Amino acid sequence: MSVEDFSRDVVSFAKQPAMSGGSRLTSGKKRTVSSRRWLERQLSDPYVAEAHRRGFRSRAAFKLIEIDDRFRLLRPGGRVVDLGAAPGGWTQVAVQRTQAAKPGGGRVVAIDLLETAAIAGATVLTVDFLDEAAPALIREALRGPADVVLSDMAPQSSGHPDVDHLRIVALVEAAVEFAVEVLAPQGALVAKVWQGGTEARLLATMKKAFGSVRHAKPPSSRAESAEVYVVATGFRGMSR
Ligand SMILES: C[S@@+](CC[C@H](N)C(=O)[O-])C[C@H]1O[C@@H](n2cnc3c(N)ncnc32)[C@H](O)[C@@H]1O
Repeated sequence: MSVEDFSRDVVSFAKQPAMSGGSRLTSGKKRTVSSRRWLERQLSDPYVAEAHRRGFRSRAAFKLIEIDDRFRLLRPGGRVVDLGAAPGGWTQVAVQRTQAAKPGGGRVVAIDLLETAAIAGATVLTVDFLDEAAPALIREALRGPADVVLSDMAPQSSGHPDVDHLRIVALVEAAVEFAVEVLAPQGALVAKVWQGGTEARLLATMKKAFGSVRHAKPPSSRAESAEVYVVATGFRGMSR
């Protein structure tokens, strides 16, 4: 299956003010090389420190913050679906920006295969999004068309790149299929894709369904990670 290279079209972001902080790994406890490297990286990562300081459950929260600061998708009162939500960083950002925890605020429905601890203002469902019952459960919890569908879903690595690629494509396809059924006109979809962009056939479908389809690599997404986000806005409502 081919994946087009959209790296030249990836949206650039304004330079973030350098985040300071981070601690050094000092413990003499025995660790494997990879776990030591992971821990070193966590301790020296300013996004990890800032997530901790601001009470976010994951550094991933900053990816959504940066994407939303650039594209302005999450609005007070908005209805949002967050696919692949655990441990909940994106959900926290969605709740804050839609004011879903306030009376008259928005609505946020978060789903993941894994248990996600409760987040005030969000409805959290523990379900496999690929399960055929999932779309109806989400819709029931959403109680109306969505303004934004978010997908940060990532499959567990199988150790086989071809299998992983197929799983990734299946998740993105399912997210797009769901989005075109649940989004309100002018709604938006943000989905994690890999290897430089969205698979060509899917991209063509998205371009028909949305007024604008861009790829974005927010500054908090590690340079060595192949992840990129596809940001589709101006849903045309064509499949209704
Ligand atoms: C990178 S993490 C999401 C991090 C999250 N956005 C945050 O800010 O905390 C990816 C998540 O996708 C979930 N996931 C993968 N496949 C899924 C599926 N079929 N259905 C639901 N969730 C899935 C994983 O369980 C994992 O928690």
